[in-house]
Amino acid sequence: MSSGLEISVNELKPVFTKEQIATRVHEMAAEIDAVYGDEPLVAVCVLKGAVVFFSDLTRSLHNKNLEMDFVRLSSYGRQSSSSKHVIFNKDVEIDLCDKHVLIVEDIVDSGHSMRFLLGQFAARRVRSLRLATLVDKGERREMDIPLDFVGFTLKKGFIVGYGLDYAERYRALPGIYEIIPE
Ligand code: PRP
Repeated sequence: MSSGLEISVNELKPVFTKEQIATRVHEMAAEIDAVYGDEPLVAVCVLKGAVVFFSDLTRSLHNKNLEMDFVRLSSYGRQSSSSKHVIFNKDVEIDLCDKHVLIVEDIVDSGHSMRFLLGQFAARRVRSLRLATLVDKGERREMDIPLDFVGFTLKKGFIVGYGLDYAERYRALPGIYEIIPE
């Protein structure tokens, strides 16, 4: 998430350890395998935030007919709170028509990004469309989003790590932390 309003970070408070995340990601992969088996499936990573989750999740799946693709959305502009404007920077390259599609997202916050992408993909006559998110954060939800696979539910907190950023920092942290401002 980019931000023009820089804050001073006093502390990164642990929220989920890398071990907790690894356990949950394996569980989610089992849930996803139980739904699709070896059915042809396109897993779509929502860049940038989902890249680490996507990498771990897809490597835990057993589906022999898995394809991977990527979209790039950005929604926050220069504000630390969500704007309603979603920028579709990069589309998938695979034709999704008649495919099972699984969107893989790091966090659903206001819901605007996923409302936008679900609308885009639904218009492509996909065979099925589901959404896996590592974190479901409800505090600022503005759009009703169907979440098929959820790693963790959080009420609130500005979190970073495991792909999630603050002003492009902290994405490479192995765990997830809450930013505590000074
Ligand atoms: C973040 C995050 C989600 C989205 C969630 O992405 O990765 O994709 O915001 O917010 P929403 O539910 O309020 O729409 P961001 O636009 O910051 O880009 P990034 O993935 O490159 O960090």
